[in-house]
Amino acid sequence: MCGIVGFIGKNGSLQMLVEGLKRLEYRGYDSAGIVFQNGHGLEMYKTKGKLRDLQSILPDPAPTIRVGLGHTRWATHGEPSSVNAHPHRVDKVAVVHNGIIENYRELRSNLEGEGYTFLSETDTEVVPQLISKYLRQGFSITEAIRLAVMRLRGTYALGIISESSPDTLFAVRKGSPLVLGIGNGAFYFASDVPAFLPYTRKFIFMEDNQMCILTPDDIDLRHIESNAVVSCTDRTVKIGWTPAMAEKDGHDHFMHKEIYEQPRAVRHTIGERIDDLLKFVADLGIFTQRRADSRRLHIVSCGTSFHAALVGKYMIESIARVPVSVEIASEYRYRNPIVERGTLFVSITQSGETADTLAAQREAKQMGARTLTICNVVGSTSTREADSVLYTHSGPEIGVASTKTFTSQMAALCLLAIGMAVERRCLTEEEADAMRSRLSEVPGLIEKTLMKDAEIKALAGTLVHAKDFLYLARGINYPIALEGSLKLKEISYIHAEGYPAGEMKHGPIALIDKGLPVVVLAPSNDLFEKVFSNIEEVKARGGRVIAVTDSPEALKGKADDIIEVPSTHPLFTPFVNVIPLQLLAYHIGVQKNCDVDQPRNLAKSVTVE
Ligand code: F6R
Repeated sequence: MCGIVGFIGKNGSLQMLVEGLKRLEYRGYDSAGIVFQNGHGLEMYKTKGKLRDLQSILPDPAPTIRVGLGHTRWATHGEPSSVNAHPHRVDKVAVVHNGIIENYRELRSNLEGEGYTFLSETDTEVVPQLISKYLRQGFSITEAIRLAVMRLRGTYALGIISESSPDTLFAVRKGSPLVLGIGNGAFYFASDVPAFLPYTRKFIFMEDNQMCILTPDDIDLRHIESNAVVSCTDRTVKIGWTPAMAEKDGHDHFMHKEIYEQPRAVRHTIGERIDDLLKFVADLGIFTQRRADSRRLHIVSCGTSFHAALVGKYMIESIARVPVSVEIASEYRYRNPIVERGTLFVSITQSGETADTLAAQREAKQMGARTLTICNVVGSTSTREADSVLYTHSGPEIGVASTKTFTSQMAALCLLAIGMAVERRCLTEEEADAMRSRLSEVPGLIEKTLMKDAEIKALAGTLVHAKDFLYLARGINYPIALEGSLKLKEISYIHAEGYPAGEMKHGPIALIDKGLPVVVLAPSNDLFEKVFSNIEEVKARGGRVIAVTDSPEALKGKADDIIEVPSTHPLFTPFVNVIPLQLLAYHIGVQKNCDVDQPRNLAKSVTVE
C-alpha cells in the first residue's frame, strides 16, 4: 500500500522525508515522489521505480526545508509511471494519497465537463482538481479542502500542501491509516509509526473523518463535516518502540532479523501476564458480567493472522472447552453472520489496519458481540474500536511477510486458552501450573530451533529449482503447514499448498511425482503413526520428503531430509515447527534473488479490500 510522509517545522531537510519514506518501504511501492515549499513556490520531483531512483533526481546537496510531503505509490489506478506517481499537482495545490477514491470516475467526468484537464490516470487527481476549483471560487484553503473531501467516497489518507499557504500542511483521514508525530518544534505525519521514530515517540492516531491543519507552532485537529475542534491532549500516545527496532541490525534482511527476534517477541507477549491468568482474562473483560458472556468465540482475520487463529482454535477448544469458529475476514463481513448472545468476537491483526478485518469487527459489534482484538500496533484502528485489546508487544515488524508477529499471536492465544481454562475450571491448579511452565520454556526452544539456520540454508540450496511444494501436517500443526506454504509462496514465488495430511488421499496425492518436495510436520504425538503412514504414501510415489520432527530416529531411512526440532508440549509444537518453515522460505527466496522484504505485488498492511 502507498506510504505517506509529511513534515512541518524548523530544521527539516529533504533527506528527512526520503528517510521517512525508506522506513515505509516495507509497504511495497512502484514509484515515489516529493514536494516541498522552496521559499518561492512548490518544488516537486517524482519518478517510477525505487527511492534510489527518486534520490538520483533530487537536488544535490539536499536543501533544508520547512514544509514538505513524500509518497511511495503502490499502483491501483493507472500503471506505475512518473505521471501517475504522487504528488499530484493542480495549480497551487499538491496532494499525496493512500487509499481508493471510489467515485473518481463520476467526479472526473463532471470536472472534465466543466473544462478541467487531467494529466494522470489516477483516482487521486480528482482531489487537487476539486480543491483548486473551490480555491478559484474564493474559498479559503481550509474550506476548499473540506468541501472537496466531503465529495469523496472511498478510503483516503491525504497529505496536502498549497503554494498560497507556505507555512501550513494539511492531513485528512478516512479509512486509511494516518498518524501524527509531535516533535520538538516540528510536526510529522505518516502512514505508519516507524517513519518518524528517530524524531519522536509521541503520536496521535487520526480518526476517520478528521482533518489536521499543521503550522510550525500549532496543531489543529477537526472533524471534517462539523468542523468541530477535536482536543489533542488526551489522544497523544507514547510508543515504546525505538529507532533501532526498525533497523536491520546486522542482518541482510528485516525478515531474517525478525525471524531471530521471535524468542524475545514471544517473551514480551507472555510477560507478566502468565503470573496471574485469572486477572489477565478478567482485564480483557472476557467473563466480566456472567460466565455466559463468552460461551463461544468467533475469531476473524486474514493471511498469516488467520493461521494463528486456526492454531488458537485448537488450543482454546482443547483445554478451555469453549467452541471457537475461525473465519477469513473478507468472507465473514459479507455473509450476514449469526451473532448469538454470548459470542466473543476476536479479531487478530498485526497492523490493526486491515480493511476486511476492521469491517468484520464493526459488523460483529453492530450485531451485539463483545469485541476483543489481538494486535501489535498501539493505537491502531482495531485497538481503538474494539471493546478490549490484547497487545502482542512484538515490536515493529518491517518485513512484509509476517514472522515474529505470528508466533506472538500464537503466544497470546496460548495465554487466552490457559486463562479461560483456569477460569472455567477445565484445568486443575497443577495442570495449569504445568502448562504455564511449559509455555515459559517456548522462547528458549525457539532459540534452539534457530540454530538449524545453516543446515536449512544448505537444504534450501537443493530446493531452489522446485516448481511446486506440498506441506502436510495434522491437528494443531495443520495451520503451520498452511503458514509454511504461504511463506514460501510470498517470498520465493514458488507454488505451494498446505493440506491436512489425512486429506492427501482425497486429491493432492495426484500431485506427487518424482522429486516433488513434500514438507511434513511430524511431532512425536498421538498422531505420529498416522503422519508416518502419509510419509510412506509420499515415498511410494517418488516424492521427496522433508520432515520436521523431534523424533529423527523414527524417520531415518524414510524421510529424505530431516530437520530436528526440540520436543515440547503437544499444544506448543507449532512454535518450534514454524521456525524451520520460515527459514526455508527465507533462504529459498534469497537464493532465488527475490526481494524477500518487499515481495512483488504484496503490501504490509492491506488497507483496501
Ligand atoms: C503474510 C502476511 C499477510 C498478513 C495479512 C493480515 O506474511 O503478512 O498475510 O498476515 O495481510 O495482516 P494483519 O495481521 O495486519 O491484519
